[in-house]
Amino acid sequence: MNNVDIPWRRAVVSVDQFSRSDIDEIFALAARLSVGRTMPLTGKSIVNLFYEPSTRTSSSFYAAMTKLGGSVIPINEVNYSSVTKGESLEDTIRTLECYADALVLRHYDEDATERAVSVASVPIINAGNGAGEHPTQALLDLYTISKERGHIDGLTVTLMGDLKHGRTVHSLVKLLRMYDVKVQFVSPPELSLPRPYLVKEDTEYTDLEAVIDDTDILYVTRVQKERLSDSVAIDFSYAVTQSDMDRAKDEMVLMHPLPRVGEIPSELDSDPRAAYFRQMKYGLHVRMALLVSMIGRD
Ligand code: NCD
Repeated sequence: MNNVDIPWRRAVVSVDQFSRSDIDEIFALAARLSVGRTMPLTGKSIVNLFYEPSTRTSSSFYAAMTKLGGSVIPINEVNYSSVTKGESLEDTIRTLECYADALVLRHYDEDATERAVSVASVPIINAGNGAGEHPTQALLDLYTISKERGHIDGLTVTLMGDLKHGRTVHSLVKLLRMYDVKVQFVSPPELSLPRPYLVKEDTEYTDLEAVIDDTDILYVTRVQKERLSDSVAIDFSYAVTQSDMDRAKDEMVLMHPLPRVGEIPSELDSDPRAAYFRQMKYGLHVRMALLVSMIGRD
């Protein structure tokens, strides 16, 4: 089965599964839940199953679930589980689904979500599959853009950093294609966006200076060191500077999925255009909306 054919309420594998009207619906629900006090997931539970490190994704799913009245079995450190004894992903999924209404899975293998979906009878949510995709992050990134700017169509979005291995970038680029958005990329050639994600209108640069003036959204990512082989030495320092911000539009929005490791110095945090902390709050609301949509009905 192709990912696109799987209804997203059954499993979120890739952003390819969402239409613009699905996204409108999720964003409207996120906005409602952000001010609501209802507990629609009372009695429901999820497992957070993370084979890779996580701060925001695991804790925001945890917070989203508990705010909605549900509970969470956190397996954030698989090394303390039977995975260490050699248990397969498939058996781990079959075990944990006995205890929960959905599984949130982060794994280093790109095919892990699909393998999990093929054996699971409860919804699976892809929380990052290697260098593949990170669909819930991309939804929250898009929600951040729409909240900060009031619209998505007509914007110029610049994505900068490790575009090759950055799964949040891969998912976000695909979502942006559904809108009337100009997309431009800044990276060293070694870390450029994989060709299948590019369309002919896209422009690629190695320097932010060339594009900062006309950028409405600047989305910065770190180099994904864990996905580079040790022999690769990349000479690319691309911290956003105060002089970049001085040149940027007054209403530009500066985003980062975090963690940052030097790409945005903390001196820029007080700039009202720095949206990366607000971005996390928006993420909580989007994940609440996804959970209610997927497991909120009996
Ligand atoms: C990202 C990830 O895990 O892909 N983090 C996140 O979920 N916010 C980005 C990263 O690790 O660089």
